[in-house]
Amino acid sequence: MRILLLSGPNLGMLGHRDPDVYGTATLDELVDVARTAAAAHGAELDHVQHDAEADLVAVLHAVVRGERPGDAVIVNAGALTHYGLSLRDALELVRVPCIELHLSNTLAREEFRHTSVIGGVCDGTIAGFGAHGYRLAVDAAVALVDGR
Ligand code: DQA
Repeated sequence: MRILLLSGPNLGMLGHRDPDVYGTATLDELVDVARTAAAAHGAELDHVQHDAEADLVAVLHAVVRGERPGDAVIVNAGALTHYGLSLRDALELVRVPCIELHLSNTLAREEFRHTSVIGGVCDGTIAGFGAHGYRLAVDAAVALVDGR
């Protein structure tokens, strides 16, 4: 099983962003959490980070066309979560399990973060568990792949 973890804008700056909200782990450390969780299931994890929505869309198109492996997708879309309609439409094309992931509890934050335009085209959302969410998202993705 190959799980694709997609990271959106500004997530490459984790470690520099507000630690009270996002914790102190860098993106590389979070990817390690996910990769270790995947390995425990005998799965592999690929990770891609882009700041531009078009680049994330292109990665998803490659999955849909079978040009890039992805038995499941985990996406922390960063701020695109709240307005990225092209990303939303690309996720809708993906016919594999998809988990929306956030470090912070977006529902407990500013009102503009309460809306997710991608949530409706994902199987479920994991938010507010910090770095643990990266393990939980892998567990959920594996469960969905195994259950389908
Ligand atoms: C985030 C939440 C988003 O609202 C924010 O724009 C981010 C990070 C999270 O992981 O908590 O960049 O996706």
